[in-house]
Amino acid sequence: MTRSNGSKAGSDEPNLPRPEGLEGVVAATTALSHVFGEEGKLVYRGYDIHELAGRAAFEEVAFLLWQGRLPTNSELTGLLRSLGEQRALPGHVVDVIRDLPATAPPMDALRTGVSALGAIDTEEFDDVPDLNEAITLTAKFPGILAAFFRIRQGLEPVVPKTEHNTAQSYLYQLFGQEPEEKHWRPLDVYLTLLADHGMNASTFTARVIASTGSDLCSAITGAIGALKGPLHGGAPSKVLDMLEAIGSADNVDAWLTGALDRGDRLMGFGHRVYKAEDPRAEILRGMAREASTPEFFELSRRTEERALEMLHERKPGRRLYTNVEFYSAAVLSAVGLPGDMFTPTFAVSRVVGWTAHVLEQVANNRLIRPQSEFVGPLDKKFVAIETR
Ligand code: ACO
Repeated sequence: MTRSNGSKAGSDEPNLPRPEGLEGVVAATTALSHVFGEEGKLVYRGYDIHELAGRAAFEEVAFLLWQGRLPTNSELTGLLRSLGEQRALPGHVVDVIRDLPATAPPMDALRTGVSALGAIDTEEFDDVPDLNEAITLTAKFPGILAAFFRIRQGLEPVVPKTEHNTAQSYLYQLFGQEPEEKHWRPLDVYLTLLADHGMNASTFTARVIASTGSDLCSAITGAIGALKGPLHGGAPSKVLDMLEAIGSADNVDAWLTGALDRGDRLMGFGHRVYKAEDPRAEILRGMAREASTPEFFELSRRTEERALEMLHERKPGRRLYTNVEFYSAAVLSAVGLPGDMFTPTFAVSRVVGWTAHVLEQVANNRLIRPQSEFVGPLDKKFVAIETR
Protein backbone atom coordinates (compact mmCIF):
# COMPACT_ATOMS: atom_id res chain seq x y z
CA MET A 1 0.00 0.00 0.00
CA THR A 2 1.20 3.55 -0.76
CA ARG A 3 0.83 6.22 1.95
CA SER A 4 -0.17 9.82 1.27
CA ASN A 5 3.46 10.92 1.61
CA GLY A 6 4.67 8.25 -0.74
CA SER A 7 6.06 5.80 1.84
CA LYS A 8 5.26 2.11 1.49
CA ALA A 9 3.39 0.18 4.18
CA GLY A 10 5.48 -2.45 5.98
CA SER A 11 5.69 -5.69 4.04
CA ASP A 12 4.93 -7.64 7.25
CA GLU A 13 1.29 -6.41 7.21
CA PRO A 14 -0.85 -9.25 5.92
CA ASN A 15 -3.68 -8.43 3.59
CA LEU A 16 -6.38 -8.65 6.27
CA PRO A 17 -10.11 -8.17 5.62
CA ARG A 18 -11.29 -4.80 6.93
CA PRO A 19 -15.08 -4.52 6.66
CA GLU A 20 -16.47 -1.21 7.88
CA GLY A 21 -17.93 -1.46 11.36
CA LEU A 22 -16.57 -5.04 11.59
CA GLU A 23 -19.66 -6.17 9.67
CA GLY A 24 -19.59 -9.93 9.13
CA VAL A 25 -16.51 -10.49 11.32
CA VAL A 26 -16.79 -13.39 13.78
CA ALA A 27 -15.36 -12.00 17.04
CA ALA A 28 -16.12 -14.85 19.46
CA THR A 29 -17.53 -18.33 19.79
CA THR A 30 -20.69 -18.45 21.87
CA ALA A 31 -23.36 -20.96 22.86
CA LEU A 32 -25.53 -18.25 24.43
CA SER A 33 -27.65 -16.71 21.71
CA HIS A 34 -27.73 -16.13 17.99
CA VAL A 35 -29.47 -13.78 15.62
CA PHE A 36 -30.45 -15.42 12.33
CA GLY A 37 -30.68 -12.20 10.38
CA GLU A 38 -32.08 -13.52 7.11
CA GLU A 39 -34.86 -15.47 8.79
CA GLY A 40 -35.62 -12.91 11.49
CA LYS A 41 -35.00 -15.48 14.22
CA LEU A 42 -33.47 -15.14 17.70
CA VAL A 43 -32.33 -18.16 19.68
CA TYR A 44 -31.29 -18.35 23.37
CA ARG A 45 -29.42 -21.56 24.24
CA GLY A 46 -31.31 -23.46 21.55
CA TYR A 47 -34.76 -22.01 22.29
CA ASP A 48 -36.44 -19.80 19.71
CA ILE A 49 -37.48 -16.57 21.45
CA HIS A 50 -41.12 -17.38 20.60
CA GLU A 51 -40.82 -20.52 22.78
CA LEU A 52 -39.81 -18.43 25.79
CA ALA A 53 -41.67 -15.11 25.43
CA GLY A 54 -44.64 -14.95 27.79
CA ARG A 55 -43.93 -18.50 29.03
CA ALA A 56 -40.59 -18.29 30.83
CA ALA A 57 -40.11 -15.69 33.57
CA PHE A 58 -37.13 -13.34 33.28
CA GLU A 59 -35.31 -15.21 36.06
CA GLU A 60 -35.80 -18.54 34.20
CA VAL A 61 -34.20 -16.94 31.15
CA ALA A 62 -31.37 -15.61 33.32
CA PHE A 63 -30.74 -19.12 34.68
CA LEU A 64 -30.89 -20.48 31.13
CA LEU A 65 -28.32 -18.00 29.82
CA TRP A 66 -25.98 -18.37 32.79
CA GLN A 67 -26.24 -22.14 33.28
CA GLY A 68 -27.14 -23.45 29.82
CA ARG A 69 -30.48 -25.05 30.73
CA LEU A 70 -33.86 -24.10 32.16
CA PRO A 71 -34.08 -24.32 35.97
CA THR A 72 -36.15 -26.77 37.99
CA ASN A 73 -38.73 -25.31 40.35
CA SER A 74 -36.37 -25.40 43.33
CA GLU A 75 -33.49 -23.93 41.30
CA LEU A 76 -35.72 -21.06 40.21
CA THR A 77 -36.84 -20.49 43.80
CA GLY A 78 -33.18 -20.47 44.85
CA LEU A 79 -32.26 -17.91 42.19
CA LEU A 80 -35.20 -15.67 43.11
CA ARG A 81 -34.12 -15.88 46.76
CA SER A 82 -30.50 -14.97 45.93
CA LEU A 83 -31.62 -12.04 43.79
CA GLY A 84 -34.05 -10.88 46.50
CA GLU A 85 -31.40 -11.04 49.20
CA GLN A 86 -28.87 -9.09 47.17
CA ARG A 87 -30.99 -6.24 45.84
CA ALA A 88 -30.15 -3.70 48.56
CA LEU A 89 -27.33 -1.29 47.66
CA PRO A 90 -24.32 -0.56 49.85
CA GLY A 91 -24.82 2.86 51.50
CA HIS A 92 -21.72 4.24 49.80
CA VAL A 93 -23.15 3.49 46.36
CA VAL A 94 -26.32 5.41 47.28
CA ASP A 95 -24.08 8.29 48.47
CA VAL A 96 -22.31 8.37 45.09
CA ILE A 97 -25.68 8.44 43.31
CA ARG A 98 -26.86 11.20 45.65
CA ASP A 99 -23.91 13.36 44.58
CA LEU A 100 -24.91 13.26 40.90
CA PRO A 101 -26.77 16.24 39.44
CA ALA A 102 -30.51 15.60 39.07
CA THR A 103 -30.12 16.46 35.39
CA ALA A 104 -27.70 13.57 34.70
CA PRO A 105 -29.02 11.03 32.18
CA PRO A 106 -30.08 7.84 34.04
CA MET A 107 -27.68 5.78 31.89
CA ASP A 108 -24.83 7.89 33.27
CA ALA A 109 -26.13 7.27 36.79
CA LEU A 110 -26.27 3.52 36.12
CA ARG A 111 -22.75 3.52 34.67
CA THR A 112 -21.48 5.49 37.68
CA GLY A 113 -23.38 3.29 40.17
CA VAL A 114 -21.97 0.06 38.71
CA SER A 115 -18.48 1.51 38.63
CA ALA A 116 -18.85 2.67 42.26
CA LEU A 117 -20.14 -0.77 43.27
CA GLY A 118 -17.00 -2.36 41.79
CA ALA A 119 -14.76 0.06 43.69
CA ILE A 120 -16.63 -0.15 47.01
CA ASP A 121 -17.64 -3.80 47.21
CA THR A 122 -14.19 -5.18 46.38
CA GLU A 123 -14.68 -8.38 48.39
CA GLU A 124 -17.71 -9.39 46.32
CA PHE A 125 -16.24 -8.16 43.05
CA ASP A 126 -12.69 -9.46 42.84
CA ASP A 127 -10.73 -9.78 39.61
CA VAL A 128 -12.20 -13.12 38.54
CA PRO A 129 -15.83 -12.83 37.36
CA ASP A 130 -18.06 -15.66 38.58
CA LEU A 131 -21.74 -16.59 38.68
CA ASN A 132 -22.30 -15.15 42.17
CA GLU A 133 -21.02 -11.79 40.98
CA ALA A 134 -23.30 -12.00 37.93
CA ILE A 135 -26.31 -12.62 40.22
CA THR A 136 -25.32 -9.82 42.61
CA LEU A 137 -24.90 -7.31 39.81
CA THR A 138 -28.18 -8.31 38.17
CA ALA A 139 -29.93 -7.96 41.55
CA LYS A 140 -28.61 -4.44 42.05
CA PHE A 141 -29.31 -2.88 38.63
CA PRO A 142 -32.96 -2.00 39.42
CA GLY A 143 -31.94 -0.46 42.75
CA ILE A 144 -29.22 1.75 41.26
CA LEU A 145 -31.63 3.14 38.70
CA ALA A 146 -34.52 3.48 41.13
CA ALA A 147 -32.33 5.26 43.69
CA PHE A 148 -31.33 7.84 41.10
CA PHE A 149 -34.89 8.13 39.78
CA ARG A 150 -36.20 8.93 43.27
CA ILE A 151 -33.32 11.09 44.49
CA ARG A 152 -33.59 13.34 41.43
CA GLN A 153 -37.24 14.00 42.42
CA GLY A 154 -36.25 14.77 46.02
CA LEU A 155 -37.51 11.39 47.26
CA GLU A 156 -35.67 8.80 49.33
CA PRO A 157 -34.77 5.36 47.87
CA VAL A 158 -37.17 2.56 48.77
CA VAL A 159 -35.93 -0.55 50.61
CA PRO A 160 -36.52 -3.48 48.23
CA LYS A 161 -38.68 -6.44 49.28
CA THR A 162 -37.01 -9.85 49.09
CA GLU A 163 -40.15 -11.59 47.79
CA HIS A 164 -40.38 -9.50 44.60
CA ASN A 165 -39.16 -10.77 41.24
CA THR A 166 -37.02 -8.45 39.10
CA ALA A 167 -39.90 -6.73 37.28
CA GLN A 168 -41.86 -6.23 40.50
CA SER A 169 -38.81 -5.04 42.41
CA TYR A 170 -37.85 -2.53 39.74
CA LEU A 171 -41.33 -0.95 39.67
CA TYR A 172 -41.64 -1.08 43.46
CA GLN A 173 -38.27 0.61 43.96
CA LEU A 174 -39.06 3.24 41.32
CA PHE A 175 -42.55 4.21 42.43
CA GLY A 176 -42.67 3.08 46.08
CA GLN A 177 -45.98 1.24 45.60
CA GLU A 178 -46.88 -2.40 45.17
CA PRO A 179 -46.81 -2.83 41.36
CA GLU A 180 -49.99 -3.92 39.59
CA GLU A 181 -49.84 -7.17 37.65
CA LYS A 182 -50.94 -5.37 34.46
CA HIS A 183 -47.64 -3.44 34.74
CA TRP A 184 -45.10 -5.93 36.01
CA ARG A 185 -46.18 -8.81 33.73
CA PRO A 186 -45.51 -6.99 30.43
CA LEU A 187 -42.28 -5.68 31.93
CA ASP A 188 -41.27 -9.25 32.79
CA VAL A 189 -41.88 -10.33 29.17
CA TYR A 190 -39.96 -7.30 27.91
CA LEU A 191 -37.02 -8.28 30.14
CA THR A 192 -36.99 -11.83 28.72
CA LEU A 193 -36.95 -10.48 25.15
CA LEU A 194 -33.97 -8.17 25.66
CA ALA A 195 -31.73 -10.42 27.78
CA ASP A 196 -29.26 -11.34 25.05
CA HIS A 197 -28.70 -10.72 21.37
CA GLY A 198 -25.59 -12.27 19.85
CA MET A 199 -22.46 -10.20 19.37
CA ASN A 200 -23.99 -6.73 19.63
CA ALA A 201 -21.83 -3.68 20.37
CA SER A 202 -22.28 -3.62 24.18
CA THR A 203 -21.74 -7.38 24.51
CA PHE A 204 -18.62 -7.12 22.39
CA THR A 205 -17.43 -4.28 24.64
CA ALA A 206 -17.99 -6.41 27.76
CA ARG A 207 -16.11 -9.34 26.23
CA VAL A 208 -13.20 -7.17 25.12
CA ILE A 209 -12.82 -5.79 28.66
CA ALA A 210 -13.19 -9.24 30.25
CA SER A 211 -10.59 -10.63 27.84
CA THR A 212 -7.94 -8.38 29.39
CA GLY A 213 -8.42 -10.12 32.76
CA SER A 214 -10.31 -7.15 34.16
CA ASP A 215 -13.16 -7.46 36.70
CA LEU A 216 -16.90 -7.88 36.08
CA CYS A 217 -17.92 -4.35 37.13
CA SER A 218 -15.40 -2.86 34.69
CA ALA A 219 -16.72 -5.03 31.85
CA ILE A 220 -20.34 -4.10 32.61
CA THR A 221 -19.54 -0.41 33.11
CA GLY A 222 -18.06 -0.38 29.59
CA ALA A 223 -21.06 -2.24 28.21
CA ILE A 224 -23.45 0.35 29.69
CA GLY A 225 -21.49 3.06 27.90
CA ALA A 226 -21.84 1.22 24.60
CA LEU A 227 -25.56 0.55 25.06
CA LYS A 228 -26.25 4.23 25.67
CA GLY A 229 -25.60 5.26 22.06
CA PRO A 230 -28.65 5.87 19.85
CA LEU A 231 -27.40 3.45 17.19
CA HIS A 232 -27.61 0.68 19.80
CA GLY A 233 -29.88 0.93 22.87
CA GLY A 234 -30.48 4.64 22.99
CA ALA A 235 -33.25 4.66 20.39
CA PRO A 236 -36.52 3.90 22.25
CA SER A 237 -36.86 7.27 23.97
CA LYS A 238 -36.16 8.80 20.58
CA VAL A 239 -39.01 6.68 19.16
CA LEU A 240 -41.26 8.21 21.81
CA ASP A 241 -39.95 11.69 20.92
CA MET A 242 -40.71 10.96 17.26
CA LEU A 243 -44.25 9.74 17.98
CA GLU A 244 -44.92 12.73 20.22
CA ALA A 245 -43.60 15.09 17.55
CA ILE A 246 -45.86 13.45 14.93
CA GLY A 247 -48.75 13.85 17.37
CA SER A 248 -51.61 12.44 15.29
CA ALA A 249 -52.19 9.93 12.48
CA ASP A 250 -52.94 12.66 9.92
CA ASN A 251 -49.49 14.19 10.44
CA VAL A 252 -47.57 10.93 9.87
CA ASP A 253 -46.83 11.38 6.17
CA ALA A 254 -45.76 15.01 6.39
CA TRP A 255 -43.53 14.40 9.42
CA LEU A 256 -41.82 11.31 7.98
CA THR A 257 -41.30 12.97 4.60
CA GLY A 258 -39.69 15.98 6.27
CA ALA A 259 -37.39 13.77 8.37
CA LEU A 260 -36.29 11.64 5.41
CA ASP A 261 -35.80 14.73 3.18
CA ARG A 262 -33.44 16.11 5.84
CA GLY A 263 -31.54 12.78 5.77
CA ASP A 264 -32.56 11.88 9.34
CA ARG A 265 -32.73 8.26 10.46
CA LEU A 266 -36.11 7.01 11.54
CA MET A 267 -35.67 5.64 15.05
CA GLY A 268 -36.84 2.07 15.56
CA PHE A 269 -36.07 0.91 12.01
CA GLY A 270 -33.13 -0.92 10.48
CA HIS A 271 -30.65 -3.34 11.99
CA ARG A 272 -27.13 -4.47 11.27
CA VAL A 273 -28.00 -8.16 11.30
CA TYR A 274 -31.76 -8.53 10.73
CA LYS A 275 -32.71 -8.40 7.08
CA ALA A 276 -36.26 -9.38 8.01
CA GLU A 277 -38.47 -8.21 10.85
CA ASP A 278 -36.89 -8.48 14.30
CA PRO A 279 -38.91 -11.27 16.00
CA ARG A 280 -38.95 -9.25 19.23
CA ALA A 281 -40.70 -6.40 17.39
CA GLU A 282 -43.50 -8.78 16.45
CA ILE A 283 -43.99 -9.90 20.08
CA LEU A 284 -43.75 -6.33 21.39
CA ARG A 285 -46.29 -5.13 18.81
CA GLY A 286 -48.82 -7.58 20.27
CA MET A 287 -47.96 -6.43 23.79
CA ALA A 288 -48.24 -2.76 22.81
CA ARG A 289 -51.69 -3.40 21.36
CA GLU A 290 -52.78 -4.74 24.75
CA ALA A 291 -50.91 -2.32 26.99
CA SER A 292 -51.11 1.13 25.40
CA THR A 293 -54.12 3.33 24.73
CA PRO A 294 -55.94 2.65 21.40
CA GLU A 295 -54.96 6.16 20.16
CA PHE A 296 -51.27 5.69 20.92
CA PHE A 297 -51.24 2.23 19.39
CA GLU A 298 -52.98 3.52 16.26
CA LEU A 299 -50.42 6.32 15.95
CA SER A 300 -47.56 3.82 16.39
CA ARG A 301 -49.03 1.40 13.86
CA ARG A 302 -49.70 4.08 11.25
CA THR A 303 -46.20 5.51 11.71
CA GLU A 304 -44.68 2.04 11.38
CA GLU A 305 -46.63 1.24 8.19
CA ARG A 306 -45.78 4.50 6.44
CA ALA A 307 -42.17 4.50 7.64
CA LEU A 308 -41.64 1.02 6.18
CA GLU A 309 -43.26 2.01 2.88
CA MET A 310 -41.18 5.17 2.61
CA LEU A 311 -37.93 3.46 3.61
CA HIS A 312 -38.55 0.75 1.01
CA GLU A 313 -39.22 3.41 -1.64
CA ARG A 314 -36.22 5.57 -0.76
CA LYS A 315 -33.71 2.86 0.16
CA PRO A 316 -34.58 0.02 -2.24
CA GLY A 317 -32.51 -3.07 -1.55
CA ARG A 318 -31.59 -1.95 1.99
CA ARG A 319 -34.13 -4.26 3.62
CA LEU A 320 -35.06 -1.95 6.49
CA TYR A 321 -37.63 -3.33 8.92
CA THR A 322 -39.02 -2.52 12.36
CA ASN A 323 -36.49 -3.22 15.12
CA VAL A 324 -36.99 -4.02 18.81
CA GLU A 325 -36.88 -0.39 19.86
CA PHE A 326 -40.01 0.75 18.03
CA TYR A 327 -42.63 -1.03 20.13
CA SER A 328 -40.45 -1.06 23.26
CA ALA A 329 -41.38 2.62 23.50
CA ALA A 330 -45.13 1.89 23.60
CA VAL A 331 -44.77 -1.02 26.04
CA LEU A 332 -42.47 0.75 28.49
CA SER A 333 -44.52 3.90 28.39
CA ALA A 334 -47.68 1.88 29.16
CA VAL A 335 -45.88 0.30 32.12
CA GLY A 336 -45.46 3.83 33.53
CA LEU A 337 -41.83 4.54 32.70
CA PRO A 338 -40.73 7.96 31.44
CA GLY A 339 -38.74 8.07 28.18
CA ASP A 340 -35.35 8.59 29.79
CA MET A 341 -35.75 5.32 31.72
CA PHE A 342 -36.27 3.21 28.57
CA THR A 343 -32.63 2.49 27.74
CA PRO A 344 -31.76 1.91 31.43
CA THR A 345 -34.62 -0.62 31.56
CA PHE A 346 -33.09 -2.34 28.54
CA ALA A 347 -29.90 -2.58 30.66
CA VAL A 348 -31.83 -4.16 33.60
CA SER A 349 -32.48 -7.03 31.20
CA ARG A 350 -29.25 -7.08 29.20
CA VAL A 351 -27.01 -7.28 32.27
CA VAL A 352 -27.89 -10.98 32.23
CA GLY A 353 -26.57 -11.43 28.70
CA TRP A 354 -23.50 -9.28 29.36
CA THR A 355 -22.55 -11.21 32.49
CA ALA A 356 -23.21 -14.56 30.78
CA HIS A 357 -20.90 -13.50 27.94
CA VAL A 358 -18.21 -12.40 30.38
CA LEU A 359 -18.38 -15.79 32.12
CA GLU A 360 -18.18 -17.54 28.76
CA GLN A 361 -15.24 -15.35 27.73
CA VAL A 362 -13.20 -15.96 30.90
CA ALA A 363 -13.92 -19.70 30.80
CA ASN A 364 -11.95 -19.93 27.55
CA ASN A 365 -10.12 -16.66 27.32
CA ARG A 366 -7.82 -15.24 24.73
CA LEU A 367 -7.09 -11.50 24.71
CA ILE A 368 -9.25 -9.77 22.08
CA ARG A 369 -6.84 -7.55 20.24
CA PRO A 370 -7.61 -6.81 16.57
CA GLN A 371 -5.51 -4.96 14.03
CA SER A 372 -6.06 -1.54 12.54
CA GLU A 373 -5.32 -0.36 9.04
CA PHE A 374 -2.74 2.41 9.34
CA VAL A 375 -3.49 5.26 6.93
CA GLY A 376 -1.34 8.00 8.51
CA PRO A 377 1.90 9.41 7.15
CA LEU A 378 5.31 7.82 7.83
CA ASP A 379 8.94 8.91 8.09
CA LYS A 380 8.30 12.37 9.55
CA LYS A 381 11.28 14.15 11.14
CA PHE A 382 11.05 15.78 14.58
CA VAL A 383 11.20 19.59 14.57
CA ALA A 384 12.10 21.32 17.85
CA ILE A 385 9.22 23.36 19.35
CA GLU A 386 11.02 26.70 18.95
CA THR A 387 11.25 26.25 15.21
CA ARG A 388 7.72 24.85 14.53
N1 ACO B 1 -33.79 5.44 8.79
C1 ACO B 1 -33.40 5.86 7.58
N2 ACO B 1 -32.42 5.27 6.86
C2 ACO B 1 -31.81 4.21 7.41
C3 ACO B 1 -32.17 3.72 8.67
C4 ACO B 1 -33.21 4.38 9.37
N3 ACO B 1 -33.60 3.97 10.58
N4 ACO B 1 -31.39 2.67 8.98
C5 ACO B 1 -30.57 2.50 7.95
N5 ACO B 1 -30.81 3.43 7.00
C6 ACO B 1 -30.15 3.57 5.70
C7 ACO B 1 -28.86 4.34 5.84
O1 ACO B 1 -29.06 5.72 5.64
C8 ACO B 1 -28.03 3.71 4.74
O2 ACO B 1 -28.46 4.23 3.51
P1 ACO B 1 -27.40 4.75 2.41
O3 ACO B 1 -26.41 3.62 2.25
O4 ACO B 1 -28.25 5.04 1.24
O5 ACO B 1 -26.74 5.95 3.03
C9 ACO B 1 -28.45 2.26 4.75
O6 ACO B 1 -29.78 2.25 5.28
C10 ACO B 1 -27.56 1.35 5.60
O7 ACO B 1 -27.36 1.97 6.85
P2 ACO B 1 -26.12 1.65 7.78
O8 ACO B 1 -25.97 2.76 8.77
O9 ACO B 1 -24.92 1.30 6.96
O10 ACO B 1 -26.58 0.35 8.51
P3 ACO B 1 -25.96 -0.20 9.83
O11 ACO B 1 -26.07 -1.67 9.74
O12 ACO B 1 -24.61 0.37 10.08
O13 ACO B 1 -26.91 0.43 10.92
C11 ACO B 1 -28.57 0.86 12.51
C12 ACO B 1 -27.88 -0.22 11.65
C13 ACO B 1 -27.52 1.66 13.23
C14 ACO B 1 -29.46 0.17 13.54
C15 ACO B 1 -29.41 1.78 11.59
O14 ACO B 1 -30.40 1.02 10.93
C16 ACO B 1 -30.04 2.95 12.34
O15 ACO B 1 -29.40 3.98 12.50
N6 ACO B 1 -31.33 2.80 12.78
C17 ACO B 1 -31.98 3.86 13.54
C18 ACO B 1 -31.57 3.78 15.01
C19 ACO B 1 -32.16 2.60 15.73
O16 ACO B 1 -33.32 2.24 15.57
N7 ACO B 1 -31.32 1.97 16.59
C20 ACO B 1 -31.69 0.79 17.38
C21 ACO B 1 -31.11 -0.44 16.78
S1 ACO B 1 -31.71 -1.91 17.54
C22 ACO B 1 -30.64 -2.20 18.82
O17 ACO B 1 -29.46 -2.04 18.76
C23 ACO B 1 -31.20 -2.68 20.10
